[in-house]
Amino acid sequence: MLNAQCLNTMLTRTSIRRFKPTPIPDEVVMRILEAGTRAPTAGGGEQWFFMVIVDEELRRSIHKLLRRAHEIYARETLLEPYPEDSVVKWMKRIDEGMYYAPLYIAAYLDLRKRMHKDEYFQYERVLAIQSLSAALQNMIISAWFLGVGSVWLGVPLLLKEEFDKTLNPPQDCELQAVMAFGYPSEEPRLRKRRGIDEVVIFKRGQELHRA
Ligand SMILES: Cc1cc2nc3c(=O)[nH]c(=O)nc-3n(C[C@H](O)[C@H](O)[C@H](O)COP(=O)(O)O)c2cc1C
Repeated sequence: MLNAQCLNTMLTRTSIRRFKPTPIPDEVVMRILEAGTRAPTAGGGEQWFFMVIVDEELRRSIHKLLRRAHEIYARETLLEPYPEDSVVKWMKRIDEGMYYAPLYIAAYLDLRKRMHKDEYFQYERVLAIQSLSAALQNMIISAWFLGVGSVWLGVPLLLKEEFDKTLNPPQDCELQAVMAFGYPSEEPRLRKRRGIDEVVIFKRGQELHRA
């Protein structure tokens, strides 16, 4: 039977980028981490590592880096860069607290323990990243169920070295994302998606084929 609560959590989730300063209780953080590490993981490898950041000074440093990383993203990486006035507005919103969260989780690919032969390294890496992504989505969904908003941040990959200098992860752990978590101080806004018809093809057997 479909679990309506679970579905509802997934169908109402949106990225949240502005957070209340209220700390997230430890037991809630632990539930989110448990949900994350219950995700499917290729070959049972669990080649993931997480750093939970609540320290205020570190959070301020992360926020500064997030500003720089978003600026690089908007100005340098896109085939169609943001217009100058939008970049300025975005940076202003960040200066006013957008992305500043009471909790960040830095997510690392942890290939210290290898499972595959060298010639299958790329295969191993891709599956480990997919497994890590499943863990992050579990965290996002469990957090939302518990009233905690989040946004998945990919831009730190544009400043990996700086993030590593700031966070000092174990050697051979490679940053894949920074997740910001907190109680929302903005209204959730469901963003548009391409229609199911556009992104799915059904193969149901001859008699049910669509024209
Ligand atoms: C891999 C990944 C990286 C992302 N990186 C960023 C980011 O660096 N900054 C940001 O503001 N949002 C980031 N997002 C959030 C997306 O912008 C967001 O999911 C998308 O706009 C759809 O909005 P929704 O999550 O509210 O449905 C990222 C999402 C994913 C899955």
